[in-house]
Amino acid sequence: MMAEEINELNNFYNKHLAVDSVQSIEETDVVAILLTKEDYANEEIPYFDLIKKLADKDKKISDFGNSTSIVLNSASGFRTIIIAGLGGVEKLTPDILRKAAGETARAIVKAKGEKTLVYSSPVISNDDHFYLSALIEGLILGSYEFNEYKSEAANDFDGIIQVYSKDLQASDIIAEANILCESIIWTRNLVNRPGNIVQPQYIAEEAHRIADKFNLACEILGTEAMKEKKMGALLAVGKGSAAEPKLITLKYQGSNDSKWIALVGKGITFDSGGISIKPEAGMGEMKDDMAGAAAVLGAIRAIAKMKLSCNVMAIAACAENMPSGTATRPGDIIKAANGKTIEVVSTDAEGRMVLADAVWYACRQGASKVIDIATLTGAVIIALGNETAAIVSNNDNLCQEIISAGKVSGEKYWRLPSLPECKEAIKSDIADLLNSAGRAGGVITGGLFIGEFVDESIPWAHIDIGGTSTTQKTNGHLVKGATGIGVGTLVQLVKGI
Ligand code: BES
Ligand code: MN
Ligand code: ZN
Repeated sequence: MMAEEINELNNFYNKHLAVDSVQSIEETDVVAILLTKEDYANEEIPYFDLIKKLADKDKKISDFGNSTSIVLNSASGFRTIIIAGLGGVEKLTPDILRKAAGETARAIVKAKGEKTLVYSSPVISNDDHFYLSALIEGLILGSYEFNEYKSEAANDFDGIIQVYSKDLQASDIIAEANILCESIIWTRNLVNRPGNIVQPQYIAEEAHRIADKFNLACEILGTEAMKEKKMGALLAVGKGSAAEPKLITLKYQGSNDSKWIALVGKGITFDSGGISIKPEAGMGEMKDDMAGAAAVLGAIRAIAKMKLSCNVMAIAACAENMPSGTATRPGDIIKAANGKTIEVVSTDAEGRMVLADAVWYACRQGASKVIDIATLTGAVIIALGNETAAIVSNNDNLCQEIISAGKVSGEKYWRLPSLPECKEAIKSDIADLLNSAGRAGGVITGGLFIGEFVDESIPWAHIDIGGTSTTQKTNGHLVKGATGIGVGTLVQLVKGI
């Protein structure tokens, strides 16, 4: 497969989606209705009589999570009616609509109509544009399929999906929702691709393509340049691999003020654990250990394409963590770019090492706010499960900004305490820091380690996506595999500034 081909985005919106103010049911062969409980009294909804009859028999058809498909014999042939429940309007949120739209998208793809009408009363009755955005996001993201390595794609949908919306002034909103989805899909693709393809150099090339396309400044540091900058921590992680580590920086200047927000991502293209090698079971999943890097690059892609008025730098700290005769050993002591020494307890605690030099670099590049995002620990799964990402931070406001942005984008965050007492655990007897403090509070100590490399005066937050970067099951707008978490939140956060 040609790299060129692999990189073509599945631009679902341009190919398949239209938003229209005319409801031309006659010409459609599929009608998808996202149904609230209140719609039982809403005569404007398509197939009102049918839905009323169905609801008389079973009120549950509008429950959130329910989805029904009915084939009717119509004048022009057969017509499929898809009904997806949203629940009652009092509990309705854009996130519920996004999830139901994801389910609906897969039913639409299955029904294979030439023309599909999508009707959802919340989009029509709410001035709040978040519902229209969420509907579009659900439709695009829910029908995502990672099929680059399949000889035959399962999703051969070729029809037009027409979303009914009275507000056609919303074209900016539609365009932005589309750019966001495109960028989330860009991120999902990068995360889903295997470690033999996605190496640090590959990410550098992808970043370069983004820079060329959207006119961003692009800097790629290899081993020699990192040695000059004394980035011993990043180099220590990469030196067991035949693949050269890369520190990638993209800069988007959309504003004349001097404030820069830095988005820093962990880009371990494969995490074998190094000499502290991981057990065989599930090791292959560690190809997704670059999800943080993919998220910051996807986010800056969207931010640049939306032309938001802010200054953003995305820094991807990329290396492959491999065991070999040149690899870092447990017990080694290395020196990071800020001069702090690190005793390597486990070579499997490599994410915090690459991020140490990367967040330091972000500060040197003039960042006034730093957010790092990383598949840093397995411990975050024990602490928060697979739905919620953890935050460790030195700044209350920044945490609140992330949590609020997550509410809009449908991504969940929970802040963990960063007590000074916890810092004791990462002190070494023979060096400045330990790279691992064992199991207790593993998410917190991992985050605090990274914080040691950020200037104290700079607001900083660390996001641990170890439990949320991929999903085992297709559900709502998420499809088995990479979720693209972080892109939506970071873009929304920057919009809010
Ligand atoms: N990439 C892993 C974290 C991870 C593991 C994320 C499983 C998602 C699923 C990270 O580099 C790692 O190995 N962390 C260690 C840290 C420990 C050695 C302090 C972990 O979580 O066990
Ligand atoms: Mn590891
Ligand atoms: Zn890792």
